[in-house]
Amino acid sequence: MASLQGRDLLSLADFSSEEIAELLNLAIELKSKEIEPLRRKVLGLLFYKASTRTRVSFLVAMYQLGGQAIDLNTSVTQISRGEPLEDTAKVLDGYLDILAIRTYKQTDLETFAACSQIPIINALSDLEHPCQVLADLLTAQECFGSLTGLTLTYLGDGNNMANSLLLGCALMGMHVRIACPKDYQPDGAIVEQTKQIAAGKTEVLVTEDPIEAVQGSQILYTDVWASMGQEDLAESRIPIFQPYQLNEALLEKADKEAIALHCLPAHREEEITDAVIAGSQSRIWQQAANRMHAQKALLLSLLGGSY
Ligand code: CP
Ligand code: NVA
Repeated sequence: MASLQGRDLLSLADFSSEEIAELLNLAIELKSKEIEPLRRKVLGLLFYKASTRTRVSFLVAMYQLGGQAIDLNTSVTQISRGEPLEDTAKVLDGYLDILAIRTYKQTDLETFAACSQIPIINALSDLEHPCQVLADLLTAQECFGSLTGLTLTYLGDGNNMANSLLLGCALMGMHVRIACPKDYQPDGAIVEQTKQIAAGKTEVLVTEDPIEAVQGSQILYTDVWASMGQEDLAESRIPIFQPYQLNEALLEKADKEAIALHCLPAHREEEITDAVIAGSQSRIWQQAANRMHAQKALLLSLLGGSY
């Protein structure tokens, strides 16, 4: 995995199909290994937004691989008092071996990457959530054996999850369908980029019709209707998004072997029903656990650790 050493992960499209495939296989391999190849390596977690899964899975991944992590909420750093990101990036570059950032603007990540020598990881921005999609692909690979030719349907808001799923599915030879209300489509530039990756090989569909989108699909996926930073819009969005709810009726229209995924946290009975979360087709807890395994492979690869 030397090829990923020293690289950044700001968008899932920063990695090639082959590099993602190798990462997923490494993640599976690491599940059965107790090894500490990252001894004395330190990960920083610089978060502007709340997090349970991403924060804890990165902390535990570093600990189990023999390294350490420093959990930094930006409110306790001088960023909150106006220190420029460029200065913060240069300073942290002198202490840390690798830095994961959760922020609003994708340009914050680009600023850090431009001012740092160490690898910068996008731990969620308003545009993308690549670490989550590595875990989602890992889960699909475990459930179906291979990713090639599978169809993933994402239902709901065309947000960071929709954007990274588009790229991730196309890169891995999967068909990808996004069903969302007209005014809530995924990022236009990412849809175009996805179509170029998929060109002539796999299907990329953005539609307003959830029923059309789930027909024959093997993976149904959803996320909240109002993301972090949009909380005040949540109530007004409920009637707009109701037809896209991942419920048992919609799941029945998919492939009979279909699985249900959600990145979590979920607003139960809004974008997904309790029955689907608890149902036999749900792989949501496996998916959450896989955050740590996918990130172990990512950390080891970006840091060039050998074992
Ligand atoms: N899925 C995800 O990123 O969860 P957290 O916001 O809890 O990190
Ligand atoms: N779209 C959600 C994902 C949370 C993991 C958000 O950005 O809040």
